[in-house]
Amino acid sequence: MTLTDPRAYGHSFSETYDAWYSTVTDAEATARFVAKRCPTRTVLELGVGTGRLATALIDQGLQVVGLDASPDMLRRCPGTVHRVTADMSRPPLRPGLDATALCGFNTLFNLASEQSQQLLFRQIRPLATVLILETMDLGAPDPAATTESQVGIKQPMEGGVIVTATSQDHSRQTVVGRHLEISDAGVVARPWILRWTTVEQLDAMAGAAGFDLSERFSSWQESDTAGNDPAGNDPAGDDPVVAISVYR
Ligand SMILES: C[S@@+](CC[C@H](N)C(=O)[O-])C[C@H]1O[C@@H](n2cnc3c(N)ncnc32)[C@H](O)[C@@H]1O
Repeated sequence: MTLTDPRAYGHSFSETYDAWYSTVTDAEATARFVAKRCPTRTVLELGVGTGRLATALIDQGLQVVGLDASPDMLRRCPGTVHRVTADMSRPPLRPGLDATALCGFNTLFNLASEQSQQLLFRQIRPLATVLILETMDLGAPDPAATTESQVGIKQPMEGGVIVTATSQDHSRQTVVGRHLEISDAGVVARPWILRWTTVEQLDAMAGAAGFDLSERFSSWQESDTAGNDPAGNDPAGDDPVVAISVYR
């Protein structure tokens, strides 16, 4: 399977996703935030995965239609979610769903080209009155930068270690990475790709599809307002800076 196949992320991570990422972002705070912006009580979650966020949304009394391209991820998602196996940039849904669409935890960046991200905005517009995105701010691409490769220790694991090897290409705004689980039994490679966008690029793609930016925060806590410059909110912090964008 190629890395740009929409099923590739699930192929790499479905086995380990819940163990590694169950607390990666605050699911309850996400659900409270979305519930306040969901007049029809129907959420369309793009890249629902194993249902980490969807379960918290359902606990808020919302109905969730969960799209995911990966049968491996969806198999692990509870049946209380209305699960649809599909590429989120080509949702097989009729216009007029009037949902609040949510694409959390950087999942937009799983679409590895500008064209596929633009397509997602255009395809979601007829289905959603509100679109909420959570994206990490990886900074503006540097046209002078060459491809940068890095290796790091992600975490120790029993009987071994997980190493990450990444290559960042500024001209394409992509990062190709591998999580390598190294133990005496051998090496398991979990490859992934992301295409990052700046908030200005997000706003431009959203605008071209007929969405206007209505709110922006730097966390799911609404007191953390970000204006148009989320990077400015955490000048000393080591945590990745996040933008929560609400389009209507
Ligand atoms: C980082 S996980 C997030 C899962 C879940 N939203 C959460 O926050 O725990 C990204 C999910 O997006 C799915 N995905 C990746 N590319 C996709 C695509 N083109 N269409 C639909 N789903 C996709 C993956 O299979 C995976 O389940």
